[in-house]
Amino acid sequence: AYDPTPADRFTFGLWTVGWQARDPFGDATRAPLDPAEAVHRLAELGAYGVTFHDDDLLAVEPDRDKAIASFRKALDATGLVVPMATTNLFTHPVFKDGGFTSNDRDVRRYAIRKVIRNLDLAAELGAKTYVFWGGREGAEVDAGKDVRAALDRFKEGMDLLCQYVIDKGYDIRFALEPKPNEPRGDILLPTIGHALAFISSLEHEEMVGLNPEVGHEQMAGMNYVHGVAQALWHGKLFHLDLNGQHGPKYDQDLVFGTGDVKSAFFLVDLLEHGGYEGPRHFDYKPLRTDDAEDVWVSAAANMRNYLIFKERALAFRADPEVQEALRASRVDELAVPTLAPGETYESLAGDDFDLDAAAARGFHFTHLDQLAMEHLLGAR
Ligand code: GCO
Ligand code: MN
Ligand code: MN
Ligand code: MN
Repeated sequence: AYDPTPADRFTFGLWTVGWQARDPFGDATRAPLDPAEAVHRLAELGAYGVTFHDDDLLAVEPDRDKAIASFRKALDATGLVVPMATTNLFTHPVFKDGGFTSNDRDVRRYAIRKVIRNLDLAAELGAKTYVFWGGREGAEVDAGKDVRAALDRFKEGMDLLCQYVIDKGYDIRFALEPKPNEPRGDILLPTIGHALAFISSLEHEEMVGLNPEVGHEQMAGMNYVHGVAQALWHGKLFHLDLNGQHGPKYDQDLVFGTGDVKSAFFLVDLLEHGGYEGPRHFDYKPLRTDDAEDVWVSAAANMRNYLIFKERALAFRADPEVQEALRASRVDELAVPTLAPGETYESLAGDDFDLDAAAARGFHFTHLDQLAMEHLLGAR
């Protein structure tokens, strides 16, 4: 039951299993991974697809055409699909002050060209979602960045790229990935909420949604499950990055399920019942202490953990005692509109309301929470 198949729609970034584990304090601990090998290994483990940054394809073959040909061959041989692609606008030194929002106009023009070039490849490979993680769009020095001008330029870039996709007739939507900090001291569009507000200012807002990442919201002290629920409510959960994080510290990109286990349980519960149909995409980093074979143990762990949470969430929902507890907490009552059909605010005046009795009523959330805990821990 915990063995993944393509029907589970698990996908991985090439940059996850391919991470060589360079960090700010130490060199790589693993050799570069051939993207074609990554595709084969992920397929053997039961994954559905892979995603990539333009530059990820060049891990072992510097010639772009040859690298693409080899990647395609692996996709064809395994049946793995490419539901999402993205651009690296952060590694090259030219992007040190950002891509779309660099103070240097020449850099902004180059960044847009780099995106366009990879968008063409993304469309060719059948990607439906194109992610923007603006890791370098930010600042350390407030005097050095006019945030309102930066947002103008961010909007200009997004509007241009939407127009490009429309003109080309590509079946692609964009997804912004918020992150509060790292590598910049402060990153623009730091949370789901900031990004949602920004999207509403865009020329083609219907083409732009979100790619929220577990760890990034948790770095900002946010409740990821609530953020994802709100993104769903706005019709903006186009894609998502699953991983693990221990609270507000550096971006850990741990295996999914690690860190806030309970939040992971409620996330899977939401995704499985909340109407998200997209890929379950893992954006994690294999531990720096892991060797080249351990990487595949960690890739498998992401999928296995998701399936364990899924089974636990289904058991939670199916338990008659849980259903009774949900009713006792009046969770279903929240779905009833506050006014009945035909009522107006004037109807409220006629309510026969016992203030003291209502104030005294408990919601019995602790009992409900304990049942969730016991299902999550396998005690029920
Ligand atoms: C991070 C980000 C990145 C992006 C990826 C896609 O670790 O801060 O999550 O991994 O998701 O670069 O653009
Ligand atoms: Mn991350
Ligand atoms: Mn991510
Ligand atoms: Mn990441």
